[in-house]
Parts: sequence; structure tokens; C-alpha cells
Amino acid sequence: MYTEEKLMDEARQGEVVMAKSKSTGNRRKLYLESYGCQMNFSDSEIVASILTKEGFVTTRNVEEADLILLNTCSIRDKAEQTVRKRLVGFNIRKKHKPQLMIGLLGCMAERLKAKLLEEEKLVDIVVGPDAYRDLPKLIHHVEGGQKAVNVLLSREETYADINPVRLSGNGITGFISITRGCDNMCSFCVVPFTRGRERSRDPETIVHEARFLFDQGYREVTLLGQNVDSYRWNMSNKGEIKDPDKPTVNFAQLMEMVAQVNPDLRIRFSTSHPKDMTDDVLYVMAQYDNICNYIHLPVQSGHSDVLKKMNRGYTREWYLNRIKAIRRIIPSCAISTDIITGFCGESDEEHAATISLMKEVKYNHAYMFKYSERPKTLAERKYKDDVPEALKSARLQEIIALQGEHSLASNQNMAGKVHRVLVEGYSKRSEEKLRGRNTENAMIVFPKENHKPGDYVNIMVTDCTAATLIGHVV
Ligand code: SAH
Ligand code: SF4
Ligand code: F3S
Repeated sequence: MYTEEKLMDEARQGEVVMAKSKSTGNRRKLYLESYGCQMNFSDSEIVASILTKEGFVTTRNVEEADLILLNTCSIRDKAEQTVRKRLVGFNIRKKHKPQLMIGLLGCMAERLKAKLLEEEKLVDIVVGPDAYRDLPKLIHHVEGGQKAVNVLLSREETYADINPVRLSGNGITGFISITRGCDNMCSFCVVPFTRGRERSRDPETIVHEARFLFDQGYREVTLLGQNVDSYRWNMSNKGEIKDPDKPTVNFAQLMEMVAQVNPDLRIRFSTSHPKDMTDDVLYVMAQYDNICNYIHLPVQSGHSDVLKKMNRGYTREWYLNRIKAIRRIIPSCAISTDIITGFCGESDEEHAATISLMKEVKYNHAYMFKYSERPKTLAERKYKDDVPEALKSARLQEIIALQGEHSLASNQNMAGKVHRVLVEGYSKRSEEKLRGRNTENAMIVFPKENHKPGDYVNIMVTDCTAATLIGHVV
């Protein structure tokens, strides 16, 4: 789910929506840039929806913007530094265009509150992830010469009734948020502080959104939550007060409801939590062909003592047992993970345990990070960030190299076989080639013949790199 570093480099920008409208010239223009996880990109689509109703059109061209919004991430220090640099650049622009409004959204807004507005004077508007409905009012304040802040977190807000404006999409694959916030308090993680308490969204609105997307031509939805396995909705009372006697919908049941929208609609989901992922979820995956054989199951560390300090709620043995359950129930399932190196006090032996776990699981893919201490987290208060930077880096390089071997081997395993691929678009290198994914989430590139985005095609894979499979239509 989390590819911040990569996305940060190529921060996606809003497309021009309603560009055909003749009146576009008079409408105020919004330039929206998003950083961080898929949840943030999904939120940007809600923001675009709210502001489109206010008369804004989105633009990819920052030169013509009347309003610049940055939807930001706080997960590691580097993520925040990138945004700060961006804001400094936008403020130079503002010197020549004083009426330009600059706003900070998302996790940095929540974490730093009014700091960037009052102390550093880098922004005019600060809005936290649960307050986007307030944006029109806040923008009016700024137009009236004031500064505007709303960083209230909510126990109920799920934006369930807002139909997102699909921004940077390909029209084939889309995200649907099913929960917001997180109650887990992993000791390294800032998300519970920036996103607030966990809440689930009404399943009917989720199914409705999936059906709507399918009718628009979409062929894949990814259900999003920080911990999708803790999804829970009580049918009796809109989910707010749990009544144990009334039927509830759990994640396995929700996934089944979405899978039944149409057999041609693929379902993915992210992120699964090892402590909460049930066999029921795996059985539903095995039962429906349109639920993809791919699970992102972050391990963070291969040593139980580190996991305990991380407050992850499972041991190495428990995690490996979940992997066994996946292999037993869905033998061909691809598995990816997140790993942190150099967490507080991590010894050579503990690092070696991560290496041995990687060798045991042989992940298809992994996102790997150096530990970055975050203010206010349990780890910041309780443990010393004492693994030297050079050692963190060396450990990271070691696991990256190992994962490289595993990713290549996993792709080589897929060669010589036929894969059902959902075409997502054209290859970045050539208009004559299409690209799409198999159910295991591996990217496959092939000559287009007479196929187009949105088609399902059977591809014989003949060659591969660690990142991509290459093949032809059969
Ligand atoms: N909810 C998801 C992940 C959220 S953050 C889960 O529980 O798995 C995405 C990833 O960023 C995490 O899995 C973790 O590997 C990494 N991460 C989070 N906080 C971090 C920190 N302080 N330093 C380095 N990496 C971190
Ligand atoms: Fe952060 Fe843990 Fe929640 Fe994931 S489950 S968002 S790592 S606190
Ligand atoms: Fe996502 Fe970054 Fe916030 S990973 S939840 S945008 S801190």
C-alpha cells in the first residue's frame, strides 16, 4: 500500500476535470498534489469532489493555479522535508501573485497544526484529514484576508456520501476507502496521531461505489484501510454503537459483498494486519476468482523481541503461521511486506532474524525503510533511536539486495505460463505495447495487437526482469 518514496519523486497531480466546459476560463483553478499512501490519494479525490462543487476546476499546471493544496504525509521525516521544500518554492511564486492561496492538507497538517501557518508563514490554510467538508468555508475566510485552520479529528467522518472525482486514474483501477484512522498504536507509527480513531464505513455505500465504478468502465477496485481486517459494521445503528445482538459485517463478508458486484470486477485490498487476518478472509479469497491472489502483510521485523517493542501484537511464530495459512488455503497467492531496519536497540542478531524470515517466506515484493523517529510516538517516548545511521543504511541495503533476488526468482517462476491480465494502459516506453497485472499483482508488458485498456487478455510470459514480466497474447 505504501510507496511514498517513489510517489514522492513523481508526485501525482490533479488532472483537468470539466476542461470541456466553456466557462472554465472564469472558474478558479485548483492545483492539488498528493504525497504518502493510497489513502491520501483517495482523500485527494474527495477534496477534488468537494471543491468542484464549489466551482473550482483542477489543473495540472501550477502556473495558472488560484489555489495550491498539498495533501501531505508524516510517516518518515524525509516525507515531511520534501513537502517543506515544495512549500518554500510555492511561496516564491506567491511573491508575484499575492492572491494565490496555499493550503496544507493531510497528515502533516494534523501533526503540525497551525505551526506552518503561524510560525513559519508558509501556508494560508491548514486542514486535517477529517475536516475536508469545511474547506469551502475555510477558503472564504482566506479570501476575506484571514488565515484558516481546522484540524479536528472525528469519530464518525467517513465521507461515505461523497462521490470522489477520480483524479490521476486510468479509468480502469480505483480505490475505495473502507475504514479511516487506526487504533493499533504500533510504537514507531505516527498514523494514529494524524488520522485519529479507527472507524468503518457503511457497507452499502462501499458496494454502491464499487457498482458505480464498474458501470463507468472500471474493472478493479482496491479496498483501503490501515488495517482492513478490523473492518466492522453493525447493521443496527449505522456502526456507531455496537449492539452485540444485531448482525455485523466483518471484512470477509464485506469483501464477498463487493466480489458479487460483477465477476469482471477485480477486488484487491490493503493493508492486512497479521494479528487480525482471519482464515475466513482467506476462504472468501479462495472462493471468488475475481478477488486477487495477492496479500500485502507487513511484518516490520523478523524477531519477536523487536515486534514486542514495536507493539505489533504478534510474534515471529504467529506471523509465520499466518503465512502457512495463506499457502494452505490459496497456494498460488503472492505475498508482499513492509520491513523497517534499525528500530530502537535492534541488535545484529535481531537483524539476522529479519533476514532469515525473508528467506523463509520469499516475498514476491517488499517495501523497505530505515527507522525514522516520529515525535509523540510510543517509541520516541520510551526507547532510544540508537542504531547509528550508517548501520541502518547497511542493514537496509542488505535486505534490499536479498529482496531483489527473491523478486527476480518470483518473476522467473511466472515465466513459461499463461496469465490472465487486466489491461491498465499503454507501456511507458511504447504506444505499441500494453501493460497490466495478473492476479498476483505482477506487471506484464506485451504487444497490444487489437486489445485496449479495460480488456482481460491471456498472456504467455516469456521473459522477465525483477520488476516486469514480458509476454505476448495467446
Ligand atoms: N497500516 C499499515 C502501514 C502503515 S505505514 C500497517 O500496519 O502495516 C506504511 C509502512 O511505513 C509501515 O508498514 C512501516 O513499514 C513504515 N513505517 C511506519 N512508520 C515508520 C517509521 N517511523 N520509520 C520507518 N518506517 C515506518
Ligand atoms: Fe501505523 Fe500500526 Fe496503524 Fe499500521 S497498524 S497505521 S503501522 S499504527
Ligand atoms: Fe498515509 Fe503518510 Fe498519513 S502513509 S496515513 S499519508 S502519514
